[in-house]
Order: sequence, then structure tokens, then C-alpha cells
Amino acid sequence: MPHPLPPALEDELGDILEKAMRRAQMSEEILAARTGVAAARIRDAVDYRSDLSAEELRRLAAELKLNEVGLCALGAGRYPLPEIGPLPFCVRALRMPHGIGVANAYLIGPCGADHAVLFDTGAGMRSLAEAWPPDIRKLDAVFLTHVEAEHAGGLCEVVARFSVTAAFVPCGAEAPCGSPLGEAESRRFGGIEVTAFTTPGHAAAHNCYWVRMPGTPAARSVLVSGDLVFAGSVGGAYFSQEQLHANLRRMLGAVPPGTVIAPGHGPLTTVENELRYNPFAV
Ligand SMILES: [Fe+2]
Repeated sequence: MPHPLPPALEDELGDILEKAMRRAQMSEEILAARTGVAAARIRDAVDYRSDLSAEELRRLAAELKLNEVGLCALGAGRYPLPEIGPLPFCVRALRMPHGIGVANAYLIGPCGADHAVLFDTGAGMRSLAEAWPPDIRKLDAVFLTHVEAEHAGGLCEVVARFSVTAAFVPCGAEAPCGSPLGEAESRRFGGIEVTAFTTPGHAAAHNCYWVRMPGTPAARSVLVSGDLVFAGSVGGAYFSQEQLHANLRRMLGAVPPGTVIAPGHGPLTTVENELRYNPFAV
């Protein structure tokens, strides 16, 4: 059977350039003056009409301190995505259309079981229900990466519907239900352990969750990254540029390179892949 196509990347070249210029606090005119790439051509690229050459992309990458290989791959529409190999548990992405985009939640649990742990809750019960696998009937716990309508809207409904007694949110999050879980705090559900990392940047209150099976240390793990890092990009730094990029570097170094990244938008990737190609991971 052919592999299904992975979902589209969350960000295109234009989004990357816009985020990088905002990080560098650089206008198109200043970037043009420093790189020799015409401001109008940069503006076209930001507006998703790029015909920048590889040489122009290299100059922009150098000035904006971006990974040149990854930026050129994005510019060519060929950002590399890794094969997601075997994991010691089943990871199911619930992809839910929201506005003009798609938000991901994840169910992670033992393969073949009727229960799992849910990470993020989509915009509400209706969008979750449309993506929900019928064999999952019980939830061991719910973890939120951050409180935003597209990721957390369904929290209290899910807690009530599944009678969830373990619901966790980042410290300081203004969530209508759930308990705060801070840096390095872990919770265990059967053989699966979930450890929180406090990762502000996209939002003031934002967690990533490292999911692994400590009983099988050689097995690969998963990092549920919310809107910190996507395949080929990062989340918008609505709270703090500095903290977002510091947490990006920290998280990519904190877990093993084979760790699968399960982001709030776009396809699955791995730490190794993003260290090699993500424009912002330099
Ligand atoms: Fe988001």
C-alpha cells in the first residue's frame, strides 16, 4: 500500500522570512541593503510569490542567521521530512481544520488498547469528534501545551465527557480546568511517562511534553512540542522572541536526536531532522 502523503508544512518560505525579519528587527529595505537582494523581491517572497534564486536565499540566510540548507530546501518546495520509524507506543495525530489552518492534537497510548493520553484538545468537542478514532474510549489523562482556542477549546468538555481526573496545563495558564504542571514534573500512566518542560515564547504559559517508556530505554520517545517548533519552522513569538529561540535550542538538545517531534501544526518530524534543516535551529 502506498504511504499516505504527509500533511503540508505549517510554514512556507514567506512565513519563515517574515518571522526571521521580525526576530532580527529588520525591514525589507534594510535586509535588501545588506544582502543586495531587491526589497521588492523580498516582499514578493513574503507574499508567497517567491522566485528567489538559491544564491539570493543563501545571502538572506547568512544575514538573517538561518540554516541555509533548510531555507533553500523550503524555497525549492522540498523541505526534507524523515521516515517516522517504530515507536514503543501508538501515536495518533488528530488533525482538525481551524480557520485557514489545521491544528493537531495527539493520542498516545499502548497499541491496540482502548485508552490513551490526549495532548491538546482542539477547538472543541465537535472538531475532536470528527478526528477521533472509534477504538479509543477512555482517556488516562489530558495535557495542554498552551491555552489558545485551536489547541485548548475542548479541554473542559473532554474532561467532563471522559470523566478525566488527570488534566494538566502549563503553570500560569489561564485555563478553565486542569492543574498546573511545571518544569521536570512527570506523570506516569502504565508504562508511559510524560515529563513537562516549561517553554515560554509563543505564549507566556507553554509546555512541551516528553513522552517515553522508561522500561524500554532503547526505545524512541516523542516530544509533543505545541507551537514551539514545527517541521521546518517555529511558532510565532507572540510572548518573547528571546525565550522562544532559547527554548528551541534547549529542547533540541534536551532529548535524544531520534526523538519524534509531534507539533501543534504540520507533519511529524524528528529532533535530528530539525537540527539538520530547520531554518531557525542554528
Ligand atoms: Fe497554534
